[in-house]
Amino acid sequence: MKTAIYPGSFDPVTYGHLDIIKRASRLVDRVIIGIIPNSSKSPLFSVEERLEMIKECIKDIDNVEVTSFEGLTINFAKQNGADVIIRGLRAVTDFEYEMQLAQANKTVAPEIETVFYVTSSQYSFLSSSIVRDVAKYGGDNSRFVPDIVVKKLKEKFSR
Ligand code: COA
Repeated sequence: MKTAIYPGSFDPVTYGHLDIIKRASRLVDRVIIGIIPNSSKSPLFSVEERLEMIKECIKDIDNVEVTSFEGLTINFAKQNGADVIIRGLRAVTDFEYEMQLAQANKTVAPEIETVFYVTSSQYSFLSSSIVRDVAKYGGDNSRFVPDIVVKKLKEKFSR
């Protein structure tokens, strides 16, 4: 049985992330989404809120689950008996950082592979920050995030 982890801030989850999650769920037997609090990014949503949104979005995919973790991604992978770390590549600009991350993780745990998914072209410009910005200024996010996330963003910015 092959297990993958997909780590990230997911503040909030977007259709770009969900595209990768669905594709990964077809490659391995079990996908564990790992939410990192990432306080360095001053998150908009609490970890609990991010968990709740992702749970709703993945409820129809049997082999995907979501949790949160603190500390190193590679330790989270080892604790969960993962074979693979999933990462998405949106553009060349992602590549350098992802290479460093993958090589550092490989040094710590050579048995765990990093697998990169090339982000589907319609999501290659997307990021959680863009989504947050669009919501902040009252724009339409419905092509970028699922309805549950649109709703939660509206609630956040109407306060
Ligand atoms: N579609 C849409 N958006 C995407 C995307 C996709 N397919 N892939 C990434 N993004 C967005 C993310 O939402 C994020 O947006 P934001 O910066 O506006 O919040 C941005 O692109 C960067 O994504 P990512 O590189 O995945 O950053 P992250 O903060 O979500 O995750 C970790 C980074 C958590 C994986 C990484 O910091 C980590 O492993 N941290 C743990 C500590 C550790 O192990 N460090 C390494 C030591 S060797």
